[in-house]
Parts: sequence; C-alpha cells; structure tokens
Amino acid sequence: MPPLNAAATSSQPFERITRARPVGRACFFPLPSPPYAATAAREVPVIDKRVAIVTGASRGIGRAIAERLAKDGRHVVLVARSAEGLAATDTAIKAAGGSCEVRPCDLNDHAAVQALVDGVAETHGRLDILVNNAGITRDTLLLRMTDEQWDEVIHVNLRSIFVSCRAAIRPMMRGKFGRIVNIGSVSGLSGNAGQANYAAAKAGLVGFTKTIAKEMGAKGITANVIAPGFIETDMTEILGEAVKTAALQNIPVRRLGKPEEIAAAVAYVTSDEAGFLTAQAIVVDGGMTS
Ligand code: NAI
Repeated sequence: MPPLNAAATSSQPFERITRARPVGRACFFPLPSPPYAATAAREVPVIDKRVAIVTGASRGIGRAIAERLAKDGRHVVLVARSAEGLAATDTAIKAAGGSCEVRPCDLNDHAAVQALVDGVAETHGRLDILVNNAGITRDTLLLRMTDEQWDEVIHVNLRSIFVSCRAAIRPMMRGKFGRIVNIGSVSGLSGNAGQANYAAAKAGLVGFTKTIAKEMGAKGITANVIAPGFIETDMTEILGEAVKTAALQNIPVRRLGKPEEIAAAVAYVTSDEAGFLTAQAIVVDGGMTS
C-alpha cells in the first residue's frame, strides 16, 4: 500500500512525487510541539547506565536477553505478567552483579503498557532500549481459527508493541538515542501452517518496525526486528519430538537455537556501536530459511 499522503493519490510517477514532496518532512513531520522540552526541565534523577525495558523476561528468550543486557552494563526493567514470575530472573541478574528492577505488566492491558513506559522514563529520567520480546501463540488451522484466537494474538503480539514503541520514542528523542528491537519470527517472513494469527502479527511487526526506523532515524533511534527460528524454550517444548525432528532436517546447523544466541544478537543491535544498523529484519535461525 502506498504512503498515506496527498501525493500518493496523484498519477505522477513516484520519482517526481518524492522530489516535489519529500516524505518525512511534508507528510509525517513536523512532530508535535515538544512537551518533552518541558519535562526535560523537571528535576528527574538521571541514572548513568543505559536503561532497557525487556518484556517477557520471566523465561526463555526474554530472560536470556535481560541477563545479557544486564551483563553488558544496562539497567534492565524486567516485565512479565507477575512479579513472582520475574523473581528468578531478578535474583540471577543481581547475583551476577547486574542492575535490574521488576515491573509486572499484562500486555493485554494497553493503558498499563503506556503507563509502564512512561513510568520507567519518569523514574530514571531516560529510556534507551526497548526490547519487545513477549509473545503468545494460539495455533490452529485457519479453517478452525476463532475470532478470539485471532484477536488475542494480534492484541499481545502486535497492538501492545505499537503502544510501547509509541510511548518509548518520546523519551528516546529527549535522550537523542534509542534502540528498539521487536522480536519477530521466521513465521512472519515465510508463513507457517497453523499460525495464521501469529504469522500475521509477526509480519506486521516488520513493516511497523521499518517505519519507526524511517521516521526516527535522524533522531538517533534505530529500530530492528530479530526473527528467531526454532529456539529451545517453553514455546517450542510443547511441539513434541516428531515436529522437532522434522524441523532439524531443514536446519543446516542440525540443532535448535539457544535463547542466549538470540540474546547475543539483541546485545549487538542495542549497543552504542550499532547506530548504522536499522530498519532490518535479522534472521537468527541456523540457516533454516536460507
Ligand atoms: P515463552 O513462551 O517461553 O515466554 C514468553 C514470555 O512472554 C514469558 O515471559 C511470558 O510471561 C511473557 N508473556 C506472554 N504473554 C504476556 C502478557 N500478556 N503480558 C506480559 N507478558 C507476557 O516464549 P519464548 O519462546 O521465549 O519466545 C519469546 C519471543 O520469541 C516471542 O515473541 C516468540 O514469538 C518469539 N519466537 C520464539 C521462537 C521459539 O522458537 N521459541 C521462535 C520465533 C520467535
């Protein structure tokens, strides 16, 4: 679908339209008059570490990402539905000398997602890194898929990420630095039988994330998708041995991935030195989709 602007409805060739009306200036900007200038003047204690939010940090890939970012010197805000679920990650990070805090939030509650991001920026005077990792599956063939199964997955895996990214870019702009990573999936790039809802949400993340990169690139904010293949977590544990054995035939490295291998990719993409890496969907799948 073409960009939603007046020029796009013209019959002129795109080349001429973009020269006449540069996208990004005439169409999307100017940004709203900056309330962030007003908040910057307030007395907010600014932590000297980069502050990172990681959703779904109670287990699996999210836990590995949280532990890795803490090891790399970030202050990590651990997010999942319950504080109890996050206790093990919290303990492990602190035992290793890292810095973190627990902020429970149900991503089904989008007002709570907004409040979470606002609250982190307010408490620490900054927000540098947002890793939207939490995700759910409600797998079934399209023929049998209910409206509820579709809505539930889109709500958690796509809409909540729109809300958190929209909330995060204001404090990131204030800090003139931002790293957004949305965890996608190879299902969102190739499709996957039984996952119409999940694949649609993960594919939606790609276009959404690339758009953030284009709108925010000049502000020091990068946005990328990391798309894992089969990774050993609770999400794939339920698949059963037959499915996993079949999958291995299509994975050149002949094994499933480890959560730490996704965390390593996230660590690089969110590092200070990765400022030229943006608007990408980076596949980490042992070569499965090559
Ligand atoms: P998991 O099921 O082991 O963990 C999911 C995490 O998200 C948990 O911490 C859970 O508490 C949290 N979560 C779920 N719903 C939530 C909600 N409503 N509010 C707050 N937190 C919620 O998943 P896994 O395997 O670690 O996957 C992490 C991400 O990686 C997901 O986005 C998933 O789609 C993606 N992914 C995983 C693959 C795999 O093979 N494990 C493959 C491709 C993508």
